[in-house]
Amino acid sequence: MQESGETSTGTGDELFQAVDESGDHTIFANRELLNIDHVPDETRIVGRDEHIRDLANEVGPAVTGGPPNSVILYGKTGSGKSLVANHVMDRAQKEAQRRDTHLATVTVDCAQAKGEADTIQSIADGINPPESGVKVPTRGISTNEYYNRLWEILDREYDAALITLDEVDRLDDDNILMLLSRAREAEKVDVPIGIISISNKVNFRDQMTERVKSSLGHNEFIFDPYDGEQLRRILNNRKDAFKEEVLHSGVIPKTAALAAQRHGDARKAIRLLRHAGDYAKNNDLDEVTEVHLDLAQEQAEGERLKELIAGLPPHSKYLLYALANLTAKTADERDWFRTTVIYDVYTKVCEAEGTDDLTTDTIRSLLSELAFLEVTESNQEYGGMGKGTYKEHRLLWEPSVVFKMDPDPAQVDVD
Ligand SMILES: Nc1ncnc2c1ncn2[C@@H]1O[C@H](COP(=O)(O)OP(=O)(O)OP(=O)(O)O)[C@@H](O)[C@H]1O
Ligand SMILES: [Mg+2]
Repeated sequence: MQESGETSTGTGDELFQAVDESGDHTIFANRELLNIDHVPDETRIVGRDEHIRDLANEVGPAVTGGPPNSVILYGKTGSGKSLVANHVMDRAQKEAQRRDTHLATVTVDCAQAKGEADTIQSIADGINPPESGVKVPTRGISTNEYYNRLWEILDREYDAALITLDEVDRLDDDNILMLLSRAREAEKVDVPIGIISISNKVNFRDQMTERVKSSLGHNEFIFDPYDGEQLRRILNNRKDAFKEEVLHSGVIPKTAALAAQRHGDARKAIRLLRHAGDYAKNNDLDEVTEVHLDLAQEQAEGERLKELIAGLPPHSKYLLYALANLTAKTADERDWFRTTVIYDVYTKVCEAEGTDDLTTDTIRSLLSELAFLEVTESNQEYGGMGKGTYKEHRLLWEPSVVFKMDPDPAQVDVD
């Protein structure tokens, strides 16, 4: 009897038959190009030349060790903010090296960091060369001490620093922005620091105290959602993810049009194109057509959504229907809805389904759960002086995909 592992090399293991010599399948030549965390090189960045140049102008002095300006980048999700910031930081770093300037560049995702100490720890650790002699432990020292070590590393090793705080609105408060932007003025450190803050909340600035606003300066760049033409160019630039002749000529324009219509989000557009390729691959087809695109959108998304919410209580599903109804039936561009608005529609869904509705508190926690699973996204909004805060939610999936999950989904009035 032949033992496993001794399969003759001539025919190969049928389990991996579909993998050809390039390590890929008949559809893709380089699927990696369609990965969401793939960082495209300069030639693949489309339509952001002006933002790249403007940002480079603001932070430019840092490449000689001079004081850079701080900048805030705003824009909806998938509009290229992180991409542009990373790109400019990379090029600034290379240029600084060419000029023998010691430039610290570091990016922290504030959505990942757990509080102030952790954020400062990440910054310090990110720029700390082994030879600095400064230790940046992950725990066990005070927030204040993390700052001290950061200043020490900067003073010992660098001429200037560019710090990118991505998803900056996720910070608990202004403290970090305040201390970083005033560090030199407060004589904590000698090195000039430029801060690139990135947020997809356009009212983020309203949350900052006047002092922080004034020390950060007023350089703000807005990233508009991409239009169909730009999305088409972004996708065209990654067309070589597919093997030649595989992709029908109508697929990219259609993907771009779909994405532009709904959100202008490059991330979603790229993901949709990848799903179309995956659909063809998984069904052993040798081409990707517009029909596959539609099917892929429904199937890939429908299945993933099902997986995501399998095991959740039925009321999570009703909530999703409520949100999908709202999203589908609101003509307005804006697809964020307050908890109370969703709750109203949710009670109608319950009525249609013939069950009692749950309390607002329970609904709130179900909504957090959906956000955690990345089915929805939640934002804390500030009502303005004396009005407190409220939460808004939006569906990260097409309403049609949500409705497809059930043969007879509840359709309700939303006005
Ligand atoms: N102008 C562009 N050219 C080529 N690819 C782009 C462009 N803009 C965005 N992308 C691609 O789209 C994806 C999302 O872009 P990015 O991460 O920069 O969005 P973002 O504005 O930071 O969104 P978020 O607010 O959700 O963080 C990335 O994979 C990026 O490679
Ligand atoms: Mg980003």
